[in-house]
Amino acid sequence: MSLLSNPFDPTHEAALVTGAGNGIGRAIAHALTGEGVRTIFADVSAERVTAAVEAAPRPELAVPWVGDLARRDAWDALLTHAQAALGQVTHFVHSASPPRREADHAFAVDADTWEAMRAVNVDAAFYLSRELARQLIATKTPGSFLMLTSLHAGTPRNLPHYSTSKAALTMMVKELAKSLGRFGIRINALVPGAIAAGGFVADASLSRHIPLGRIGKAEDLAPMALAVLSNRISGYVTGAAFVVDGGLSLTNWFDPPVLDDL
Ligand SMILES: NC(=O)c1ccc[n+]([C@@H]2O[C@H](COP(=O)([O-])OP(=O)(O)OC[C@H]3O[C@@H](n4cnc5c(N)ncnc54)[C@H](O)[C@@H]3O)[C@@H](O)[C@H]2O)c1
Repeated sequence: MSLLSNPFDPTHEAALVTGAGNGIGRAIAHALTGEGVRTIFADVSAERVTAAVEAAPRPELAVPWVGDLARRDAWDALLTHAQAALGQVTHFVHSASPPRREADHAFAVDADTWEAMRAVNVDAAFYLSRELARQLIATKTPGSFLMLTSLHAGTPRNLPHYSTSKAALTMMVKELAKSLGRFGIRINALVPGAIAAGGFVADASLSRHIPLGRIGKAEDLAPMALAVLSNRISGYVTGAAFVVDGGLSLTNWFDPPVLDDL
């Protein structure tokens, strides 16, 4: 049998994707339904969720949920909705993140913006992961979680509320991977580079610094997301971070070598 065919078991597996209304979350949610996986499309924007569900490869497998994940009461509402619609969620992707505004530099970012960024990127990620893990442990079911982190977990972005939240999320992946491994629950990080999705307005000149020569697309992230989420493909992988950046993170002040004599 092919190693890579049928990465999921749609009879027993179901997914929840936050931030599924746009960008990378939407591309991953679409890819999951394309593999036959029933998937909750969760997002704060009703308009975006409706459009994402309608555009899914198999809309009949896509279940919309609209709510603000910066609010604690929304977390239980989402879990209750997921349980009612799908039964047990085995695969969880956390891609939701509030908008990154360049104006919110260290001396401008206000308390509410700081709080919302942390609440969505860290608090919701932890609470949802832990509660989903509790359900999986109770039924001795394996699970796979994927957190969208960032290269800015390790390098500044001039947005301290954003970079610190991604650094915290990066550590959360490692903490939970260590705690949950014995229950067959894997948790990993997907680390995008410069991806022209809703949250990032790319200056085309940036591609000069990317070894693969172009800004990324949300769809560039989906195949790696599926591979890492799949228990069949990545069953022995946990606590890892997968960088999908066209080589952007190799950039420094040295230009690439001149290779004219090849
Ligand atoms: N695009 C990039 O270059 C890039 C780079 C590194 C990391 N990332 C990370 O990848 C993820 C997706 O990025 P993207 O560019 O696709 O973002 P995006 O802005 O296109 O999508 C994020 C989605 O999250 C939703 N959202 C925002 N606040 C929410 C809330 N309070 N409750 C529920 N949903 C909410 C938005 O409505 C949106 O649909 C994010 O976590 C981001 O930090 C992206």
